[in-house]
Amino acid sequence: MKSKTSRLDRFISQNSDFSISDTRLLIAQKRILVDGCWAYSIQQKVAEFTHVVLDGHCLKDNKPVYLMLNKPKGVVSATKDLEHPTVLDLIQHPRKNELHIVGRLDLNTTGLVLLTNDGAWSRKISLPETKLAKTYEVTLSKPLSDEYVAVFQQGIYFAYENITTQPACLEILSDYSARLSLVEGKYHQVKRMFGFFQNEVLALHRVSVGDISLAGLGMGESRALMVPPPFTERRGRD
Ligand code: URA
Repeated sequence: MKSKTSRLDRFISQNSDFSISDTRLLIAQKRILVDGCWAYSIQQKVAEFTHVVLDGHCLKDNKPVYLMLNKPKGVVSATKDLEHPTVLDLIQHPRKNELHIVGRLDLNTTGLVLLTNDGAWSRKISLPETKLAKTYEVTLSKPLSDEYVAVFQQGIYFAYENITTQPACLEILSDYSARLSLVEGKYHQVKRMFGFFQNEVLALHRVSVGDISLAGLGMGESRALMVPPPFTERRGRD
């Protein structure tokens, strides 16, 4: 998802009958408002969510949208699918077709999925360097032991990607259930980590991403996050 930024003079020429060279005069005549203030330079940046008004007519009013969804089993983390219902099918939002998914969950994984039209925000969440904690509740087919905690903390070698997983924090809740916090999102990562112990994941539920948690949101429900949610980088014990 590329961020769409252009210079004010180029933006004016592309979105009105005025040319690039007219923009300087329009600025001097106080005819352009950028985010509610008079434009002051032809080089001002017009970014994805900048609000631009020329002679009282709005040229750009693209508002950022942030949604969270509690994804049920059997729903695909995609915007289109021929076989299964998608996360977009569960959302009632007038601009849902502009949204993209931030960090997919497998078909049978339940829990927190974030959707937005803000490419910069989703990029930041997804970047490995951001080290944002994603927390899952996991139900296993075999009993857990303290060895898992140590091995997950050390990291597990994934031959396919030729990487060792970042230190992950495992909290054992009962013989067959645990809470796992990861700061990365490799393909089927949770299942593959428990696969190291030949312990099959029977149920997987994402409860939080950074500071955003499902708390109180029913299965299949979604709601808007009113402000760009903050990031709290959790560096764990690495
Ligand atoms: N890890 C998995 O194995 N599956 C998911 O859906 C998310 C993380």
